[in-house]
Amino acid sequence: MNTRIAPVSPTHPDGIPIAEAAQLIRQGELVAMPTETVYGLAGDALNPAAVQAIFVAKGRPSSDPLIVHIADLDQLAMIARDIPSSFQLLADTFWPGPLTIILPKHPTLDSCITAGHDTVAVRMPNHPVARALIRQSGHPLVAPSANLFSHPSPTTAAHVFDDLQGRIPLILDAGPCEIGVESTIIDITQTPPVILRHGGIPAEQLTTVLGDIIVRQRIIAHNQAAPAPGMLLKHYSPRTPLVIYRGSHTAVHAAILTQPRETTLWVCYDEDIVQAQALRIAYLSLGPRHESSTIARNLFATLRSADLAGKALLVIAEPLGDGVAAAVRDRLFRAAEGHVITLSDA
Ligand code: TXA
Ligand code: MG
Repeated sequence: MNTRIAPVSPTHPDGIPIAEAAQLIRQGELVAMPTETVYGLAGDALNPAAVQAIFVAKGRPSSDPLIVHIADLDQLAMIARDIPSSFQLLADTFWPGPLTIILPKHPTLDSCITAGHDTVAVRMPNHPVARALIRQSGHPLVAPSANLFSHPSPTTAAHVFDDLQGRIPLILDAGPCEIGVESTIIDITQTPPVILRHGGIPAEQLTTVLGDIIVRQRIIAHNQAAPAPGMLLKHYSPRTPLVIYRGSHTAVHAAILTQPRETTLWVCYDEDIVQAQALRIAYLSLGPRHESSTIARNLFATLRSADLAGKALLVIAEPLGDGVAAAVRDRLFRAAEGHVITLSDA
């Protein structure tokens, strides 16, 4: 299959590419679409063949459920039921936007979407292209991140093409994604509500709205059975091994000196560039150390570029801070398969 990339305006997504994409979706085909978080691989949530095709195209195990994307609240009735009372407040505050809400599943919704669970993940994205595509398709769309299973999520159309060329007919290209990490997932079928994945909406903001919430560490090794969806440790991984250093700048700089310079790449921050150049070590910067939103936006693209450098090892200092930095730490931890080295200044 030939994979075409169609440019589309991120702000005024009318015209031929969207109409063509919607037509493909109605025919049961898959289309990669931009969202404010990462690119998604979209298919008709009400067409079981399209749902199946998503798992095949990504090489994703059928045990990992999909998020259903809606453009308007009236699409919710066919997806979920017995909606908990906290839903309205969350939707009023954070939708459209990078928040996925776990709700009780509607009995008629294809159970392949939910991997047999009785809950369903729902998100209303705020990217104009995603919203236009959902509206013109006429149905809610299932859309996992448009990467091959366990690769870093795609934040540009070129990333999608690298992973899925030959597997899907069309990629809508609206430029790089604004947020760069996936949506926050909150399960409100439990009391207190549980954050299952850090993401674009910081946990602090959810606490402000909901009060008490729990963050559940979703980390398990890959040879263990997953007690709940999305808990695999190996995820978002570059092919090159990645090591995370936890410690002061001084300790991190000292630790980097112990690595072989020719075969190591330092995923650093802008403040480290002078040092990296002085050490003559290969580096890629994620942005200013304290700008979590810039770091999040650059994260997956930088991991992909770091992989292409063909080094034996990637090293990074763990980013500090709250807000979206929690999501960055989570993605890095998985990308490193849990390989964190705590450094002391002594
Ligand atoms: O930002 C995003 O959420 C992006 C864009 C494209 O919208 N989508 C995305 O989808 O990240 P995906 O499939 O890559 O990640 C969805 C996560 C998975 O970890 C899955 O296990 C979890 O959502 N999930 C889906 N349904 C669930 C459910 N019923 N209960 C718990 N977790 C669920
Ligand atoms: Mg994903």
